[in-house]
Amino acid sequence: MAATSVSVHPDVRKVLFDEDALRLRIRELGAQLTRDYAGRRLLVVGVLKGSLIFMSDLLRAIGNEVDVHMDFVAVSSYAGTASTGTIRVLLDLRENPEGRDMLVVEDIVDTGLTLSSLTETLRARRPASLEVCTLLDKVECRKTPFTPKYVGFKIPNEFVVGFGLDYDERYRQLPYVGILRTP
Ligand code: XMP
Ligand code: MG
Repeated sequence: MAATSVSVHPDVRKVLFDEDALRLRIRELGAQLTRDYAGRRLLVVGVLKGSLIFMSDLLRAIGNEVDVHMDFVAVSSYAGTASTGTIRVLLDLRENPEGRDMLVVEDIVDTGLTLSSLTETLRARRPASLEVCTLLDKVECRKTPFTPKYVGFKIPNEFVVGFGLDYDERYRQLPYVGILRTP
């Protein structure tokens, strides 16, 4: 593993993806998106806050062939009803997605409940197309069938932090993705 530019946080048990691995994979995803959306206008929608760092790197990996626009949403699970996957939109789009190609960018898909609910809500606004790009995918944890088209890395069922992902709002700034040491 190549050295990261900062020392590993003591609360992190293991680095899963260091800066080099993330950079390389995001470059590949950007190239794939550039091919898939060449000549089109693409509305890239980041799901706050977790997608922030991934999205900023991903956007810069998309080539000039795509006319990129960006927007954000923030969602939260309704307390007590998380198992139903009902989400509450805390911050809505500013752009009108009707008739547009949309790419929702997320940090991680776990049970799939958040994104299946969010994409259903967004599809009701009749975008021309809607795909999801997630940095991480805990494939084995699904509670509802949900398959993102673009996935950075598939990971096992471990709680990870860094590169936008938090535990209790901490660790988002770490430049790598690591498994949190259990207290
Ligand atoms: P679902 O289960 O709806 O949830 O797919 C996705 C959301 O759950 C959070 N999540 C995590 N956050 N490390 C985190 O920091 C993790 O390992 C993790 N697994 C799930 C995250 O907020 C994501 O948007
Ligand atoms: Mg999130």
